[in-house]
This record gives sequence, C-alpha cells and structure tokens, in this order.
Amino acid sequence: MSEGFSFTVSATDAGARAGVIETPRGDIRTPAFMPVGTAGTVKAMLPENVRATGADIVLGNTYHLMLRPTAERVAALGGLHHFMNWPHPILTDSGGFQVMSLSKLRKLTEEGVSFQSHIDGSKHMLTPERSIEIQCLLGADIQMQLDECPAIPIEEEKARTSMLLSVRWAERSKRAFEEKSQPGQALFGIVQGANYEALRRESLEKLMEIDFPGYSIGGLAVGEGREEMFRVLDFTTPHMPAQKPRYLMGVGKPADIVGAVARGVDMFDCVAPTRSGRHGQAWTKAGAINIKNASFADDPEPLDPESPCPASRDYSKAYLHHLFRAGEYLGPMLLTWHNLQYYQELMAGMRAAIATGDFAGFVAEFRAATGETVL
Ligand code: GUN
Repeated sequence: MSEGFSFTVSATDAGARAGVIETPRGDIRTPAFMPVGTAGTVKAMLPENVRATGADIVLGNTYHLMLRPTAERVAALGGLHHFMNWPHPILTDSGGFQVMSLSKLRKLTEEGVSFQSHIDGSKHMLTPERSIEIQCLLGADIQMQLDECPAIPIEEEKARTSMLLSVRWAERSKRAFEEKSQPGQALFGIVQGANYEALRRESLEKLMEIDFPGYSIGGLAVGEGREEMFRVLDFTTPHMPAQKPRYLMGVGKPADIVGAVARGVDMFDCVAPTRSGRHGQAWTKAGAINIKNASFADDPEPLDPESPCPASRDYSKAYLHHLFRAGEYLGPMLLTWHNLQYYQELMAGMRAAIATGDFAGFVAEFRAATGETVL
C-alpha cells in the first residue's frame, strides 16, 4: 500500500523520538510541525518563505478545497502541489472535523456526513470513499481517514459508539485508498475514544488490525485542557507501534508540542502560529507577547536579532507595533513568518536534543526561558 513511503526512527531519548519519514516528494524530519495551509495557502505567506523556515510538509483541508475551488478543478490544473507552488510533501485532513466545526445543517449517518457549505449554503455529502477520492484528486502525500471527533466531555457509551463508527470508516477509507491512490502515498488511521483509556486502546487495536503506515491521534485539544490531553497521551502512545509515525492532530501551543514530543509524538499541525500571528501575537524565546501592546511602541529591537529569518531579524518591534496599529497587511505577514520560524526552530531544537540524548536538558531550558509547565 505504501511503497515509497517509510519511517525510520534514528534516535530515542526516554519517550521522545527523532527520525525521518521518506516520501517520493521529499523527507519529513520528525518531530515535525506542519504549517496549516487550509485553502491551498499558508495564510499571508509565500511558499518559498514557508520552506525557508524549515518546513518539510504543509497541511491542506479536504473540506475547504472540495467546496472551493473543488478537487476536480485542482486535479485538472495539475494537482495541489503544482496549484499552490509547493512541490514538497502535503498532508490533507479528511474533512469530517471541519464539517462539524464550520458547516451548517450537518447530518451524520453510517454512510457519511451530509452538510451545507459555510460559503454558499450548497449541499454536499462526504463519505469515507468520497473523502479519499478528493484527497487523491488533490494528490496528497499523506491522507487521513474520515472520522468523527466528538467534544470532551462526552459519556463513555456515546464516545464508544462514535469511536466504532470511525473504525468502520477507517476500513472503508482503506479500501477506497487501495483503489485510488498512487505508489508512495500513505493513509493514516485516526485513534479516537475521547478521554477513556479503554476506548483509546480498543480504537488503536482495531486500527492496527486494519493496518496503516501511520496513526493519528484525534479528538484532543477539544476543550479538555493540557493536563488532561497529556494524561490521554500517557495511556495511548506507549501502545502505538514504535516503527510507525504518530501524528497528534490540531496541536498545539509550543508547550503542548514539547510535552507531546516527550510522550512519543512525531507530527503536529496547528493554526496557532499563523492565526495568532495575524492577530498580533508573537512567540519569542522568552514566551508569547502581543505586539499591539503599548509597551512596544518605542522598542527599537527586532523580535530576534540572531535569527536567520528576515521577519524576526530585520524589523523593530516598534515598526511591527505600528503596522498592526495602522492595520497594514505587512504586520500579519511578518508576524506569521516570525512565528513559523519560531515553531520550526523549536522542532529543530528538539530533534537535535533527542539525537544527542539531552531532551531533558532541552525541556528544562524551554521551561526556564518561557515559564511554561510542560511535563
Ligand atoms: N483535527 C484536529 N482533531 C482532529 C480529529 O480528531 N480528526 C480529524 N480528522 N482532524 C482533526
């Protein structure tokens, strides 16, 4: 199924792992952070600048692209990589999660989920088979099964019913993928089960029976809080196959990522660096700041004078503050760029620390510098 797709763990340090996913479109160094490019663009960024921050892969969304400009149009124009001028690996989410959070009048059945577009109210149906068809039309290198992601808290019985539906959708997704995919593409199963240990174990066991080249952990960062998310990871990741990549979907803030890497997660995506960058929040080595704060109006220092990233190095905080106060486009562009650089340096720092066996030292430094509790 996944010839041309492989994962090698090159170093481990306690629970943390460093490695590389090889795909026909290039290598993905892990732990990896995937910038979110929902609608075929990492918002406010040129793809070459995304690449220059150190990103090996970006994420796209089935839900958004099927509605606009449509998967068939992207395919006719040469596929998503060509369309968005990003020749490197792309992972796509399957759409179910976005239907639930964005669309109107959605209805979930055994067959799939029908919904009305949040853009124009048009009616659509997403089944496991249609989601895979769309992801193949887009040409995604790593694809996700259609799943249901319930909010936490949820009663255990309801969480089990939902998890079992996701498992049945996993089987159907795999069958469709085997028919439609190209060599080198990979499909991941998604572990669900809310915050119940028995359900997470059952979900994982059933997915491992179906057999996927990688496993995602879904249903987290849905309001349960950092400590609870870490508790779920603590009873989930130790049972996941050691030789396959593990992807924690939709996570997170830097401290979430550091804590999840400590718990053996290899891949992440989150809108945090891009979305909060557009709103004036910047992550720095000393923690998060809001550039709109009056205290930066006269600050002549850049966000990081040592950085190789122009956005971090070549513009004063006073100038960035001015751009945001004046509503200039360049403000969100520069802060997004800076935040993506920060995230990629965080990942590179963790990879290097795991390789040298000093991940504990990395965590201690991160904690001391940012004041964040991660473990
Ligand atoms: N993104 C964040 N969480 C999830 C999830 O549980 N499922 C899917 N498909 N995408 C997600």
